[in-house]
Amino acid sequence: MSKLAIHSGVPVVPKGLHRRWPIISQEDKEAVLRVLDRGILAGPHAPEVRALEEEFAHYVGVRHCLATNSGTAALHMAIAADGVGPGDEVITSAFTYIATPLAILHQNAIPVFVDIDPRTFNLDPAKVEERITERTRAIVAVHIHGLPADMVEIQAVASKHGLLLIEDAAQAHGAEYRGQKVGSLGDMGVFSLNVTKNLPCGEGGLFMTNSDAYRERAAMVRFDGEVGSSPEGWTLEHPLDDEKEPVVQTVGWMYLMSEPSAALARSQLKRLEEVNARGCQNAQVLSEHLSKLPGVKPPFVPPDRTHIFHKYRVTLHPEALGLEIEPAVFRDLILQALRAEGVEAVLWQTVPLPGQPLFQRLEGYGKGCPWSCFKGERVYRVEEYPETKRLLDASIVIGSQSYPLFAQPLELMDRYAEAFQKIFSRIGDLLSVGRGRMQ
Ligand SMILES: Cc1ncc(COP(=O)(O)O)c(C=O)c1O
Repeated sequence: MSKLAIHSGVPVVPKGLHRRWPIISQEDKEAVLRVLDRGILAGPHAPEVRALEEEFAHYVGVRHCLATNSGTAALHMAIAADGVGPGDEVITSAFTYIATPLAILHQNAIPVFVDIDPRTFNLDPAKVEERITERTRAIVAVHIHGLPADMVEIQAVASKHGLLLIEDAAQAHGAEYRGQKVGSLGDMGVFSLNVTKNLPCGEGGLFMTNSDAYRERAAMVRFDGEVGSSPEGWTLEHPLDDEKEPVVQTVGWMYLMSEPSAALARSQLKRLEEVNARGCQNAQVLSEHLSKLPGVKPPFVPPDRTHIFHKYRVTLHPEALGLEIEPAVFRDLILQALRAEGVEAVLWQTVPLPGQPLFQRLEGYGKGCPWSCFKGERVYRVEEYPETKRLLDASIVIGSQSYPLFAQPLELMDRYAEAFQKIFSRIGDLLSVGRGRMQ
C-alpha cells in the first residue's frame, strides 16, 4: 500500500463515487410542481398535509399524526400537550441533538440529563430512576442515530412513577423495536423531516399519538392556540376561508407545515424503506470489515431491534493497539487521515449536551437567563456524564450530513474499509508525524 494520503500518498477513495444527500427524483419534482399548479400552499386541512399525516400514521401504526414545520416544533407540542410547565423536570439523554432539551425549555420546564449506555449510545434506563424527583413529569427517550432506545425498561420506570413517555424519533424513521415501529411506543412520538434525515423535505416534523386528547392539545399548540375548524368545512374553492371565528383556548405557536414540503415528504416516504435498506446493507458490509480491525468497533445493534443508521458511529480503542494516547487526540488524527483518504467522516458533537455554554451559563442563575425556572437551583456538571464524554472523545461518524452512509453505493464500503485498513496498518507513521506536528 502507498503512503498515507495525509502524508501526500494516493487517496484510497477516488473522487466522484459519493452520492450527495438528499436524492431528488423526477417523481419528487412532479409532486412539488403539482402543488404549485393546484395553488394551495398551506393550511391545516390542505390536501398534501392531510395525506402525509394519514400515510405516516399508517406507516408507523398510530391513530394520529400532525405535520409540523420542524421536529423541534413537534417535540415542543408533545411536551406542551400534557401540560408540562414551569419548574417541571423532564428527563432526557445527555447525548442527543440540542433541540431535545430546547423543546423542554420552551415550556419553561427543566431538562434533566441522564448518561448513556456505552453500547447503544442511548439513554441508560438504569440511570433514569436515580434522577427522578417529586417534580419529574416526563421522560424523552431519544432513538439516537436511528437505533431504538430500551423502551421496555424505560416504560417500566415511567409507569412506576406515573411519568409521561415521549419518543424523540427525529433520527429513526422506520426503526423497529420488538417488531413495532418507533413513534408508536410512547404516549407521543416525534420525527424530524429536516433535509439531513432519512426522510427529508427541507424543514419539517411529524407529531404522533394514539391519544385523542394529546392530538387535540398538540393541534392547538401547532396553530396559535386555535381549536381549529373541522376538515369537513374545507373546500378547494375557498381553501383560505375558515368561516368560524377562532376560539383560542391556550398559548400556541405557528408550527404548520406548508404544502410543497408535505408533497415532497410524501414522495420521499415512498422511498424510505429503500433508503433504510441501503443504509443497513452499507452498515453491515462496513461493520464486517471493521470488526476484523483491532482498535475500531462498529456500532452495536441489539437483536430485538432494527437500526436505520441515520448515523454510523464507530468507536476507537487505541489501547487495543497498545497505544497510550489521549482518546480525543487519537480520534482527531484518525479523522484527518480518513478524510485525506477520501472517506466522508464527521464528529457530530464533541461534548455532552449539559456541557454546552447554554447550560453552563445557567450555573448560579439569575444572570440574565430568560428561563425563570432555573433560578440557581440547578448546576449542570459534565463529569456526571462520563459515558457520553468517553464516547464523544473516542468516536467518529462515518459518512457526513451531505454524504451520509445511507445514500452511498455499496461498492464504496469496500473502499472505506480499505482506507481504515491502510491507516491502521500505518498507525506508527500517523502518530509520529501527527505528534510531531502537535509539539
Ligand atoms: C435527536 C433529534 N431531536 C430533535 C431534532 C430536531 O428536529 P428539527 O431539526 O427538524 O427541528 C433533531 C434534528 O436534528 C434530532 O436529531
